[in-house]
Amino acid sequence: MSSQIADAIVVSRHAVVASLGFVFASSALATAQRSPAQLAIIPPRASHIADSVLKLMTLEEKLGQITQSPAGFDQTGPTVDAAGEQQVRKGQLGSFLGLYGADVTRRMQKIAVEESRLHIPLIFGYDVIHGMRTIFPIPLAMAATFDSSAAVRATRVAATEATALGLHWTFAPMVDIARDARWGRIIEGAGEDPYLGSVMAAAQVRGFQGDNLRSPTSVLATAKHFAAYGGAEGGRDYNVVSVSERDLWNVYLPPFRAAVRAGAGSFMASFNEINGTPSHANDWLLTDVLRKQWDFRGMVVSDWTGVWEMIAHGLGDSLTVAERALHAGVDMEMSSTLYRNKLGAELRAGRFPIVLLDTAVHRVLTVKAALGLFDDPYRGASADRERTQILTAEDRAQAREIAREAIVLLTNRTVGGTPALPLRRDIRSIAVIGPLGADSNSVLGGWHGAGRKEDAVSVLDGLRRALPNADIKYAAGVGLDTVPVEGPVNTPAIAEAEQLARAADVVLLVVGEAEQMTGEAASRSWLGLPGAQHQLAQTVVRAARASNPSKPVIAVLVNGRPLAVQWLADSASALVESWHLGVEHGNALADVLLGDVAPSGKLPATFPRVTGQVPIYYDHKNTGRPPVEGVKWNSKYIDAPVTPLFPFGYGLSYTTFEYSNLHVSKPSLRGSESVTLSVDVRNTGTRAGTEVAQLYLRDDAASVTRPVRELRGFRRVLLQPGQSQTLTFRLDPDDLAMYDRDMRRVVEPGAFTVWAGGSSAATLEGHFTVTGGVTVLAPAPPRFR
Ligand code: BGC
Repeated sequence: MSSQIADAIVVSRHAVVASLGFVFASSALATAQRSPAQLAIIPPRASHIADSVLKLMTLEEKLGQITQSPAGFDQTGPTVDAAGEQQVRKGQLGSFLGLYGADVTRRMQKIAVEESRLHIPLIFGYDVIHGMRTIFPIPLAMAATFDSSAAVRATRVAATEATALGLHWTFAPMVDIARDARWGRIIEGAGEDPYLGSVMAAAQVRGFQGDNLRSPTSVLATAKHFAAYGGAEGGRDYNVVSVSERDLWNVYLPPFRAAVRAGAGSFMASFNEINGTPSHANDWLLTDVLRKQWDFRGMVVSDWTGVWEMIAHGLGDSLTVAERALHAGVDMEMSSTLYRNKLGAELRAGRFPIVLLDTAVHRVLTVKAALGLFDDPYRGASADRERTQILTAEDRAQAREIAREAIVLLTNRTVGGTPALPLRRDIRSIAVIGPLGADSNSVLGGWHGAGRKEDAVSVLDGLRRALPNADIKYAAGVGLDTVPVEGPVNTPAIAEAEQLARAADVVLLVVGEAEQMTGEAASRSWLGLPGAQHQLAQTVVRAARASNPSKPVIAVLVNGRPLAVQWLADSASALVESWHLGVEHGNALADVLLGDVAPSGKLPATFPRVTGQVPIYYDHKNTGRPPVEGVKWNSKYIDAPVTPLFPFGYGLSYTTFEYSNLHVSKPSLRGSESVTLSVDVRNTGTRAGTEVAQLYLRDDAASVTRPVRELRGFRRVLLQPGQSQTLTFRLDPDDLAMYDRDMRRVVEPGAFTVWAGGSSAATLEGHFTVTGGVTVLAPAPPRFR
């Protein structure tokens, strides 16, 4: 069946629904912006298969098909109990969450395709976020690479491993923009910037899904959490989000749109509400925007019990919320079972339109068909692949290479006449101090799939491997407590750390956050070092300096969010952000500390000086009273600076770079034209290094207020000492565009400023002017409801 026919069917279903009192925009699919990638991922043939299967299904089978159940767990790993097996046999389940392993998935699939009435295959989904067994840097760290090819490679490896273990579907990438580091889930996304977030979103979708979704090494990607989940008030997970329509389109929606354009075959609704409607009931979001405007053709899954949670949101009883969710466009219910248990009677009695159920079932079946499950229900799952394609030496090598790129050098002072980093290879003794120094679990980061701490290299192990002849001693000093400790701490463990700091030639202070302090339901109210780590740091720095004023104390952060560590930044000889880098953490860090590779990572999120500054992000608006030092009546604090500790895009290397000759191809252009910027970047130091050159733009005066600057391009460039390269960036009309007061996407005439440099604080600037009238690139999106 052609896609037009499929569309026609959907349209006629909508007409039926409308006649039953459900309101669908009359424009329906007519205004959709056709997405070639969506069509490639979900081809007409898949829809045709879904049509033929749907016709044969009973009401119970349909309700089962849109129900996803979490797997159990026993000593051997994920498992399904007898009741679950029976549900598969009876067609009461369409999918499992968290069931992986070639053996168990093949066993369940066999029941589905051989023992259930219609032989419909199951789809197995799981959170494969930054690796399945070969764990890569957490997504926030991946974003610090500013390297989309790294994101493609990492997600390709993850997809290969996941499919060997029987999975078809990952609940990633998380593309939520986060500007409040208290929110623990900031680790799962690309940070604060919509442009970087969009690039990383698309790269991950491409990596997970590969060139062909039917390939046995491709997994279906899920863009989540739709939408604005990262805007949680107070940084408190699951909290209400208060966001304007304009900020939604400018900040939160772009990475989702990029995911659709890259062909993401699935979306997950978010737990939060916006504008009074929880996402699971938000037909504006899930239908008007996602399907009608963006031409998304895949399926939408609930976030865990998100359908059921709408009872607590206050939308009504279990039947009401199930109806609202199905009507809004949540196709599959994860974990809770209101669809299966509550909707049957209503549907049978004709009180709820069957067409809504059919639409959801059709989408689930279409995705299964697009994955090739009706042709080969076992796809890539095999014991042989499990043995040969998981945690291979090549995968580990990739993980190490990418982890190195993610490390951000924040400070590097001169001690004893030379920069503290890189460390000399002939150091005799090192004291590794801090509760994260020997922790091979935390370095895996949150959501580490089937990752194992036995596979991971801690900071201590990495250093010992790199320097087998050095005397490397370790002391934790303090534990990994969450709640900050006030006042001095004197314990035998701290005394031991103090002793090591005095005796060693170099101190490596490894502080930050344990895995469980980050991720879901791990919001923090305070962004300093947790527990007594600050006291440990103070004691160790003091002891080291007392024994030798020029002894290097290198502070390494192992953590999952921007931290307010002003004292450490001011006091340590060098400060290194190493995030949670995955299985190769210790090796990659040693490579950078010892100078085998110069650091090249850049911050994907602003680091505040104090917690009270959050939300803090570089692309803010100016206000009518931009901050001026020494003048009271403007927008700042009376007890802390308004500037960040480290800005977005910032990161040092072991060499230095200079930017010059920012050249604008056309000082004057029409709004429908593109403009090219070029800039020279030169390595002015004495060793090779990679720089992430960044381009920022500001619309100087517009009909609505615009951010002080916005990222519009970046490029990684490796330069030898003294080498210079000219980089070019093209800005197309959409890069210059904004939403006007009527929410049309327009390029307005007037002056624009661009900056090029190594961070969002870049100062080299250029100018151009857009002439003529207003250029309208797109009409206003569907009315915000
Ligand atoms: C999270 C999702 C995740 C799901 C399944 C939820 O609690 O919010 O991101 O995909 O669990 O594990």
